[in-house]
Order: sequence, then structure tokens, then C-alpha cells
Amino acid sequence: MTKAVELALFLHLLGVAVWVGGMVFAHFCLRPALADLSPQLRLPLWESVFGRFFNWVAASVIIILLTGGFMLTQFGGAHASWQLHAMAGLGIVMMLIFGHIRFAVFPRIRRAVQAQNWPDGARAVGTVRRLVVVNLVLGVVTIGVSVLSGGV
Ligand code: HEM
Repeated sequence: MTKAVELALFLHLLGVAVWVGGMVFAHFCLRPALADLSPQLRLPLWESVFGRFFNWVAASVIIILLTGGFMLTQFGGAHASWQLHAMAGLGIVMMLIFGHIRFAVFPRIRRAVQAQNWPDGARAVGTVRRLVVVNLVLGVVTIGVSVLSGGV
């Protein structure tokens, strides 16, 4: 493995750790801890948490895409193993889902909090929760496919 590929893999895995680890923290630790708060407290808090976390995810997505694309060219491009193609495909689906969360659902949370429309805000936070579960499952499957199925 060349130094450039080693560095790319290091950055790739840092991006994966931030994204997948952040989803685990938000879903399994923060969400249950905030569940009993009133919507007036909970929804502005989620808006503030998401506003920060989504910037970290956006940076991770860019890094994962650039380093993954670079490594793919070094591992045979179109002739790379099926595991790498599966990773790229699943990764792109995860990125599209994140884009929907960030650019379609998150603005609804912002608008609802500004208008103090708590039912709308709670619905939008519920949508983020469901989509984060989907991305978390896809993320774990992606890591599993690339690490457990041999042949990468
Ligand atoms: C456009 C998206 C992606 C592309 C093109 C891509 C491509 C690659 C490539 C070429 C490698 C190097 C494989 C090797 O060292 O032999 C790699 C490693 C890895 N990637 Fe991705 N990847 C993408 C997204 C993701 C995502 C979303 C995850 C996890 C959520 C992920 C997890 C991993 C892991 C765990 C490794 C280390 C596997 C190993 O080296 O055995 N990747 N990726």
C-alpha cells in the first residue's frame, strides 16, 4: 500500500468514525436523555445539536467521497472487487439520505422552532430519527461488507 493510499484510508476511516459514531451517540444516548423534556426545550436543543452535527457530517461526507474515490482508482476502478462497489453504492445512498435530512427536513425544524410550531417541529425531528436509523443500519452494513466479507 503506498503512503498516499495509507493516508487516504486513515482520513476515510476518520470520516466514517465521526459520521457513524455521531449517529450512535445521537440515537442511543442523546435522544432517550431528551425524551422527557417539553417540546419548548427539546426542539430548540435538537435544532442546535443538528446544526452543529450536520456540519461535521458534511465535512465527513466530502472526505469519505474524495478519499474513497481516490482509493477506488488505486484498487482497479471499474475492475475493483464487488465489496468496494457495494461500499461505494451504499455510501452514495447514505449520502443522498443525509442530503435529504440536511436540505429538506432540517429547514422544516428551523422554521417550526422559529414559529414555535411544536407539533410540526416534533414531526420533522421524528423524520430525522427514522432516516438516521436507516443510515445507521446502512453504515454498519457497509462496514460489515468491507471488513467481514474478505477479498477487499
Ligand atoms: C463513495 C463512497 C465510498 C467509496 C468510493 C469507498 C471506497 C473505499 C476504498 C477504495 C477503500 C479501500 C479498501 C482497501 O483498503 O482495500 C475503502 C475502505 C473502507 N471503507 Fe469505504 N468507500 C466509500 C464509503 C464508505 C462508507 C460510507 C463507509 C462506512 C460507513 C466505508 C467504510 C470503509 C471501511 C471500514 C474501510 C476499510 C476496509 C478495509 O480496508 O478492509 N466506506 N473504501
